[in-house]
Amino acid sequence: MLCLQADTNPGWIEVASRDIATLLCDHAHCERKAAMNGMYLIMHYPERDALVREMITLVEEETAHFKMVVGEIYARGMSLRRDRGNIYAKRLAEQVRKQDPERLLDSLLVDCLIEARSCERFTILAGSEAIPEELRGMYHSLMSSEEGHYLTFVDLAKIYFPHDIVDARLAELSSLEADIVRSLMNKPQMHG
Ligand SMILES: [Fe+2]
Ligand SMILES: [Fe+2]
Repeated sequence: MLCLQADTNPGWIEVASRDIATLLCDHAHCERKAAMNGMYLIMHYPERDALVREMITLVEEETAHFKMVVGEIYARGMSLRRDRGNIYAKRLAEQVRKQDPERLLDSLLVDCLIEARSCERFTILAGSEAIPEELRGMYHSLMSSEEGHYLTFVDLAKIYFPHDIVDARLAELSSLEADIVRSLMNKPQMHG
């Protein structure tokens, strides 16, 4: 699917569906961090008009997702818990080179991969009978939104960098992402 080179481990959905509370709290933080990341890119690249325009829209959408997931948490009589972080995003962030313009290219492509992986996981969640029906509807609605974000990041990369360089770096990072996914421990996290 999309640019991904490995499928999610088959055991993940079983673990995720057994602890919906943890999954929802981790998911809420993923949406919060996606919104914050959009603002972070605007802060670092204010002169890139297309990026600023797209990130304003993305921040609005990710904030709406955050609100929706927190609503599901409250509907279950729970509160949002502290973010435990996740090794997946941490290991991907380590791949971002420190100097521009490489930093911009890598940041956009790492974000694109995270969106693609989220889209794949929402597809699994939406199709699983082990997930409560109302949540399956929510995951289904998020699938297309995250696919749109994946395209946004690739398109932005192709505005600022030659297409062959974008394609080559995306293939490289996608291969690393696949290695990270294969090594995950099947936790009740969006990227666990
Ligand atoms: Fe989102
Ligand atoms: Fe997204």
